[in-house]
Amino acid sequence: MTSKLRYGFIGCGMMGQEHLRNLAMIKGAMVVAIFEPDAAMKKLAASFAPEAIFATNFDALLARTDIDAWVITSPNHCHAEQLAAIVAKNPKPVLLEKPACVDLAGVNALQAILDNASSNAYLPIWTAMEYRYMPPITKLIAEAHSAQYTGEAVMFSIREHRYPFLTKVGDWNRFSRNTGGTLVEKCCHFFDLMRHVMQADPIRVYASGGQNHNHLDEAYAGETPDILDNAYVVLDFANGRRALLDLCMFAEGSRYQEELCVVGAKGKLDCKVPGPGRFWPAELGDAPVAQLTVSQRHKTGADGWTNNPTITAVPLKTLDIPVDKALLAAGDHNGSTFYQHQKFFEMAKAYTAGDKNAKPEVSLADGLKAVLIGLAAEQSAKTGVAISLEEGAYAL
Ligand SMILES: NC(=O)c1ccc[n+]([C@@H]2O[C@H](COP(=O)([O-])OP(=O)(O)OC[C@H]3O[C@@H](n4cnc5c(N)ncnc54)[C@H](O)[C@@H]3O)[C@@H](O)[C@H]2O)c1
Repeated sequence: MTSKLRYGFIGCGMMGQEHLRNLAMIKGAMVVAIFEPDAAMKKLAASFAPEAIFATNFDALLARTDIDAWVITSPNHCHAEQLAAIVAKNPKPVLLEKPACVDLAGVNALQAILDNASSNAYLPIWTAMEYRYMPPITKLIAEAHSAQYTGEAVMFSIREHRYPFLTKVGDWNRFSRNTGGTLVEKCCHFFDLMRHVMQADPIRVYASGGQNHNHLDEAYAGETPDILDNAYVVLDFANGRRALLDLCMFAEGSRYQEELCVVGAKGKLDCKVPGPGRFWPAELGDAPVAQLTVSQRHKTGADGWTNNPTITAVPLKTLDIPVDKALLAAGDHNGSTFYQHQKFFEMAKAYTAGDKNAKPEVSLADGLKAVLIGLAAEQSAKTGVAISLEEGAYAL
């Protein structure tokens, strides 16, 4: 190994370029090779990784002998096949953008990789789940896990009200067959967060969703997009704990893009997270700063926590959680791409140096569970029926 960790990139559109900009801030990392089929994206990617060589196709990239770590930022429907090829032909640590795959066949194919890993050499595969690494959400997770102010989390809601899906190269994100559907494509992040905050797997999902407004006036080769633009999704956990996703993608007027709320028997956490700064209207002044509020119920002496509805919760503290300006400028995700890369870099460096137990914080198994919950939620929204996550096709 040279002194730097050498990265190979697969696909360098909007998100791949965000990864390149963030990786450029990590000392000891360098991007040596990229496969990007689109000429315009290739040019942009070259401006962020001037030392990288562009491979003419995926197989040529895969054949390189100078790669220490892979980053997959191609469209969703390419992930499963490309990951399987890396594992078979040039196994090095992988950071795989979410979602890990787009359908049950993909889940089964990637599960086979995990099953084989127990008999073959272990390879760390990290599913990129940037929301875990946004500073306000990292703080929310830490407070929820400590349970100091809340007790065990009983309810966890995530409201995302934002702008419609952006235009992508070749418009791949307009069709569920390429994305997995909205509840897989973007909401796998939230289902991962729900598992992580609740520290448990959900047992059942029910979703109500529709495509009420967005992309209905668009056509691609005569076909209208088929992706949901709003939904409520309820996850049941064992022991009467539950989580709710409230998604609306025609709500770009929202001051905060995500509002997350964890409630336990003792108190609650409220977290507000702004969307990408580049979309904030300049005429409204400075973009909002992320906040976390911790509040508790009144204590009524030795008996514990009161149930008196006339007494309001006590806000203990509201913390502003600003994000470094350089990190905000390097991406659309509140600095999370940088923090995630820092951790992936340390893991890949340790693995390359011989620590064959170096483990990802978000595993491929975590990525597959997030996809399964998303696929089950899509199925529930289609059929109106709650779907088991304990048995049957979507069992976690
Ligand atoms: N974690 C997040 O918050 C987040 C945000 C945005 C996108 N993403 C994920 O990142 C991935 C890329 O999304 P994007 O927004 O950059 O889309 P994009 O369309 O901007 O970029 C995808 C790129 O992949 C290239 N490509 C197409 N076919 C390819 C192939 N077979 N092999 C390699 N490259 C190929 C395209 O030319 C394009 O440049 C998706 O999986 C998406 O879900 C994650």
